[in-house]
Amino acid sequence: MEHSDNTAPYPELRGKVVGQLQTVHALKAGALRMFGPMLADVHKQRDEQALPEVEDLLENMTSAFGVHEGSTREHERRVRARLRTLGVGPSKRRNLGLSAVVLLHRRLGRIGGQNHGASARDAFVFEHLEIASWELLEHLAERIGDAETAELARECRADDDEMAALIRRNFPNVLSLMLASEGLPTSRESETAGDGEAQHAEASADEGETEDGRDEPQEPEPGVNVQEAARLREEGKALVLDVRDQEEWDAGHIPDALWVPMEEVEARRSELPIARRVVTVCRSGKRSGKVAAQLRDEGHEADNIEGGMEAWHKAGLPMEPPDGHVA
Ligand SMILES: [Fe+2]
Repeated sequence: MEHSDNTAPYPELRGKVVGQLQTVHALKAGALRMFGPMLADVHKQRDEQALPEVEDLLENMTSAFGVHEGSTREHERRVRARLRTLGVGPSKRRNLGLSAVVLLHRRLGRIGGQNHGASARDAFVFEHLEIASWELLEHLAERIGDAETAELARECRADDDEMAALIRRNFPNVLSLMLASEGLPTSRESETAGDGEAQHAEASADEGETEDGRDEPQEPEPGVNVQEAARLREEGKALVLDVRDQEEWDAGHIPDALWVPMEEVEARRSELPIARRVVTVCRSGKRSGKVAAQLRDEGHEADNIEGGMEAWHKAGLPMEPPDGHVA
């Protein structure tokens, strides 16, 4: 539904759009006040190293919240600019009303000290409050033919969608933080203790990835084909993680890929960006499929590149060095 500004079908709805923009602005201003204390808490725990076993999780949380704080600042600026274009400013009344909610949430989140579960829960709820407000704004703006406001709502909502998904994927990690901060064993520890040898044996078996790759039938893993992977890489939307051995990497790899051999992934997990999609690759896609599954368990958005470097090279996609081959 395309309407130019001067033929807007429902001019009486324009005031509603302004009101909804003011609501979103108040949420964003409130969110910006929440980031400070939340980040300070996480920094404090990380610096005190009170929880060494979950240090990398704290590091990842810090960077994810830092990235989202930047997006939120940008949202607040864009909504304020849009309101100015429409000839109004942020609403004082809405700001005050919502900051009371924000304050209450902050207080609730602190009951019980280092309550990571409550913080993550509140952050998850808050993102959905933002998402719902963007949705309403987008649909209202479309009805009056205000394409610019609708586009603004759509673009910003994508950041909040991403943050909500990130929090959701990390609830298992948050649980580890909660347990560790109370001195209780985390499931991560007990898993490693119980399955360590089995996991190692499995990883070693994968070293001998066969030409035909015909093994016992496996559940299909979520993956992307090489064309999709190439597009994600090209557009900067995903980091390529190559998990092969040194000689395979040296023979030829995807430009700008991060190289972490499979057996080092666990120890070097903190090098992986938590707020960015990861696509994993090995020679045929078997080893990297396992790594992708492991990363998903740990809260990353990770997909395996189907067919691995063999499919990539066969499709004539870029290699480093340019005349590289698949070893
Ligand atoms: Fe948000």
